[in-house]
Amino acid sequence: MSETVKATIEGKEIAFPVIVGTENEKAIDIAKLRAETGYITYDDGYKNTAACRSKITFIDGEQGILQYRGYPIEQLAEKSNFLETAYLVIFGELPTKAELAHFRELIAEHTPIHHNMRHHFEGFPASAPPMAILAAMFNAVSCYSSHLLEVDYDRETLLEASAKLLGKTSTIAAYTHKKASGRPFCHSNPTLDYSANFLHMMFSEPYKEYLGHPDVVRALDLILVLHADHEQNCSTSTVRMVGSSRVNLFASVSAGVAALWGPLHGGANLAVIQQLERIHSAGMTIDQVIDKAKDKNSDFRLMGFGHRIYKNFDPRAKILKTACDRVLDALKRKDPLLDIARAIEERALEDSYFVDRKLYPNVDFYSGIVMRAIGIPLDMFTVMFAMGRMPGWIANWQEMRQDPKSVINRPRQVYEGHTKRDYLAMDKR
Ligand code: SDX
Repeated sequence: MSETVKATIEGKEIAFPVIVGTENEKAIDIAKLRAETGYITYDDGYKNTAACRSKITFIDGEQGILQYRGYPIEQLAEKSNFLETAYLVIFGELPTKAELAHFRELIAEHTPIHHNMRHHFEGFPASAPPMAILAAMFNAVSCYSSHLLEVDYDRETLLEASAKLLGKTSTIAAYTHKKASGRPFCHSNPTLDYSANFLHMMFSEPYKEYLGHPDVVRALDLILVLHADHEQNCSTSTVRMVGSSRVNLFASVSAGVAALWGPLHGGANLAVIQQLERIHSAGMTIDQVIDKAKDKNSDFRLMGFGHRIYKNFDPRAKILKTACDRVLDALKRKDPLLDIARAIEERALEDSYFVDRKLYPNVDFYSGIVMRAIGIPLDMFTVMFAMGRMPGWIANWQEMRQDPKSVINRPRQVYEGHTKRDYLAMDKR
């Protein structure tokens, strides 16, 4: 028997059905609220609102739990790799050896971009923000695959579209970097795994092949695994919102890139490093940093701290904190910013301002330090986040498209503007 909750509105008692998820999350289904009472609900920023039902990712923010299709992120981080995780997120099950081999082949086949696409790069100034280029290029890519502009994908079409997006994202990202630095594009090497091939396209030169240290390649692959999906975050919700109008996957992920760009979301990894660099160069003490973060009169926020869902440790931050040591040790390098980050974390976690507000390091707090160690340029950090998040965007778009009850997203509002008034002639204004 399904549960219900009752509300009394203007003397009338209404019973609303309760939806219970497989992890016992409970939601009040208010579908009939407006029809029966004329009322709507208000929830700024959708902090308490489920916009969809999903089977892809589960997060328990209080316990610091993150699972892709039921598999704990800690196990995937330790035992899986990005392409296997991407397949899991998109298709719902871990691939067999043959399925993974086929997926890899398809991605290798679709990694090179159409020769004519190079002209699009020429149209951007050298100073163009990489996220602006990435957002534009996904719509450009779709123009070369008109059959993928349809919106109802069967499994084979979804496989092709996924391979195309995952492959092309790495090429577009690498070419964006090469263009900004004025160096020649480097062709994909299909004999390399995904992350190794991306680093090859980013850093190889005509006169010198880049061969990434295994720990560096592994660290990049780990970053991509950790970013693969994160339920209804701002950019994924944007992909669903845009896709709900029945527009194609490429246009939908292009909108997701735009949402991810913001410093409160995917842009935070870049903002963390910029903040740590400012702290380092200004010689700020940890106490000064903590005091500024707490000062309501300053717009200084501790970037990489806090999360809408995690009110405990972001499990990805814990994993990345360990990865920092591993990759810096492998490269026999020290990074003063890591020492500052660690000291800030230690102080913040003893400070009531952070403890009372349940502000812990999130995925962005350490990911930037790992990417710095790998040699990823600062302005490419958020592009790395987009590369990692691509499987989640694809999976959520497809899940919505396959839902027969899926409707165009169209929230309501509480209107607070002028009530009706008559037009004023010019001489009366
Ligand atoms: C990502 O949604 C996802 O899943 C996102 C993501 C993903 O994988 O897709 O996990 C990736 O976007 C991680 C978050 C990256 N952003 C940052 O690190 C930017 C810094 N963090 C904050 O801006 C903030 O914590 C947010 C945006 C992440 C969350 O903001 P909320 O949930 O809207 O919380 P809030 O702004 O209402 O803050 C609650 C209180 C406020 O203080 P009071 O008004 O109660 O006195 O906490 C304070 C805030 O001022 N606060 C901070 C703070 N974050 C919140 N104070 C100082 N430093 C911070 N970082």
